[in-house]
Amino acid sequence: MSPAAAPGGAKGPGEGGKVPRHVAIIMDGNGRWAKQRGLPRVAGHRAGAEAVRRALQAAADHGVEALTLHAFSSENWRRSEEEISDLTALMRFYLERELKTLEKERVRLKLIGDYSAFGAELVERLEKAVERTADNTRLTLVIALNYGSRTEIAAAARRLAVKAVAAEIDPATIGETELSAELQTRDLPELDLLIRTSGEVRLSNFLLWQAAYAELLFLEVLWPNFDEQAFAGALETFAARDRRFGGR
Ligand code: FPP
Repeated sequence: MSPAAAPGGAKGPGEGGKVPRHVAIIMDGNGRWAKQRGLPRVAGHRAGAEAVRRALQAAADHGVEALTLHAFSSENWRRSEEEISDLTALMRFYLERELKTLEKERVRLKLIGDYSAFGAELVERLEKAVERTADNTRLTLVIALNYGSRTEIAAAARRLAVKAVAAEIDPATIGETELSAELQTRDLPELDLLIRTSGEVRLSNFLLWQAAYAELLFLEVLWPNFDEQAFAGALETFAARDRRFGGR
């Protein structure tokens, strides 16, 4: 990541282009990438982790404020024990290797989802990384781990209900703002752009509330092949879209 490309001097998608403040990516296609090469699925995930590095660098260089990555969904537990253990090991490895980079490049790490399911050792490492990067302001890297959007929304509704029962809030005052404030994404900018790779055209229970007005971009590229050019292309597509927010 080049330290020169701080948000002030960030390269936008063309002169006067609109840079999305918050980009989310459903990183799909690792398994197919590996299969195409006659490799085990874990090789696809390893290559996917390299694509994560590239996406992080591209997001920072373009002046994006938050990058949310769908790393492990609540549905991914249905995969084989071997694949789950490979993915967990890869996350541990990535965290170890990249923590210094996050600190050096002033990237704040944030987690969403119920990551407690990953066991005490990984949880401790994850929380240490979150703590050590808490004051960084250049970019927030949000990793969704064991995340499911409906679960997140239900938990937010439950918290509001508890407050209402305790007479801390009046149920009549509960609106979009109040619910948004209970979501795990409460401290992030509005989601502007949601990308899914590998030709699948679904949201798969990812950021359903947050994606209400986001531009959706479904790309054919398999995640391990996603590079700086693909990221820049996505930002160009975003800048060229006419966002009306239902206004006209
Ligand atoms: C989807 O591909 C990808 C995943 C379920 C996992 C994403 C994980 C990584 C990119 C690696 C590590 C992550 C971090 C944050 C370092 P798939 O396996 O569903 O692909 P397929 O649909 O082609 O089988």
